[in-house]
Amino acid sequence: MSELPAAELERLARSGDVADRALAASAIRLGLHDLEPAAARALYDVVRRTALTEHDDVRRSIRGRALDANALVARVLAAPLELRDHLVEEILDVAYPPLESRAPPPGGVGYVPSGIAEVLFVVGQARLGPDRTFVDLGSGSGKVVLAVAALSGARAIGVEIDEAWVRFATAAAASLGLERVSFVAGDIRASPTPPADVYYLYIPVLRSVEVVARLEPVARRRPIQVFASSLDLERLPWLRATGASSYWLEMYESV
Ligand SMILES: C[S@@+](CC[C@H](N)C(=O)[O-])C[C@H]1O[C@@H](n2cnc3c(N)ncnc32)[C@H](O)[C@@H]1O
Repeated sequence: MSELPAAELERLARSGDVADRALAASAIRLGLHDLEPAAARALYDVVRRTALTEHDDVRRSIRGRALDANALVARVLAAPLELRDHLVEEILDVAYPPLESRAPPPGGVGYVPSGIAEVLFVVGQARLGPDRTFVDLGSGSGKVVLAVAALSGARAIGVEIDEAWVRFATAAAASLGLERVSFVAGDIRASPTPPADVYYLYIPVLRSVEVVARLEPVARRRPIQVFASSLDLERLPWLRATGASSYWLEMYESV
């Protein structure tokens, strides 16, 4: 990608086309422009505000508890494959995090978002609903928590070690009026795990099995489902693979 002239970048930032906005944001992130840093930052905010205006209808329906989940899924699936995740992230207002890059946490994996395909797999397979609780262990921007809450009505919690991500995700939840969503700062290897019915992990740490092992006391009190990449079940005799999977994501349940 070559440097974009300022006028073209401005046009893309204000475009009604998600592909243009994604391109503008990438150019700003990669420094492929000749704007002063303050002007680039201001234009990045224009991209985000344009996206919020474009998605005002669906964001209003989430706030008003009137979201037609099937219609939203159909809208997302109608977008070109390579833009679907960006579209969802724009709707949730997590597509344009601060421009400063964040170092991965010590011993952990830095933020990389799950895809909407994984979210839809969880929503389709998990026992979720208004009386259920979902927890994402290592929640980053909050994408999975926000999407699961909006699509299923479940109470949803994200645990995240990086407090900047916790603040970012909390603001996104507030802007969507998702009062049953919360984000807590904590180290999933050591801090208390919120009790829940469904847990999700997208490789937050290299040895996810040690994090899942900490769920056993919860599983002794209530049946739980765990969505994670392949786990060594010899270390987790209280958990069984259901055989359901999507890409890297496997579904387990307590026995
Ligand atoms: C690969 S990202 C996944 C983000 C989100 N779950 C998703 O699927 O979109 C992993 C996240 O785990 C967080 N993380 C890494 N180590 C952690 C730890 N020990 N405790 C809590 N969060 C951690 C990272 O900061 C990052 O946001």
